[in-house]
Amino acid sequence: MKQILVLYYSRTGNTERMAKAVAEGARINNDIKVELSYHVEAEDLSIFDAIIVGTPTYHHEMAVDFKNLFEETAQKGISLKGKVGGAFGSYGWTGEAPKLVIEIMKYKFEMQVVEPPLLARYLPDAKILSDCRDLGKRIAENLMSKN
Ligand SMILES: Cc1cc2nc3c(=O)[nH]c(=O)nc-3n(C[C@H](O)[C@H](O)[C@H](O)COP(=O)(O)O)c2cc1C
Repeated sequence: MKQILVLYYSRTGNTERMAKAVAEGARINNDIKVELSYHVEAEDLSIFDAIIVGTPTYHHEMAVDFKNLFEETAQKGISLKGKVGGAFGSYGWTGEAPKLVIEIMKYKFEMQVVEPPLLARYLPDAKILSDCRDLGKRIAENLMSKN
């Protein structure tokens, strides 16, 4: 059984729509367990084979919860090395938060990231929601091909 975490923050629902589509796309068969959540403890991250983070951009930053989560994960020496990572999020004009998540996953935690991150300007349209489902599906298929 492979486990995928779709972890998201959303204040006005835009990134949440994306998160639900990513999770839907990742549910490709009964050998994949997908958890859609807005909060996990740093220790919980160890059990997942893939971690996909959805964060809107507020004040040029990722959601503060995720900054704290990454900080705590690093402080406690919890290894995410080799896990699959991805990021997505809604934005208004700059949209750097998902890119920051990808950089931390890649350079700090040595995860295998899927790039580029998926962005939606404000409300995701049907095309972007389809891309979100595709991102989830690709990550799930990637995990299934690993053994
Ligand atoms: C106070 C505030 C600050 C924001 N700062 C940024 C920003 O720095 N860059 C950007 O691209 N969008 C910014 N936005 C726009 C949000 O990213 C956008 O509304 C997004 O759709 C929110 O996603 P959510 O519904 O998942 O919370 C800001 C919005 C607000 C209300």
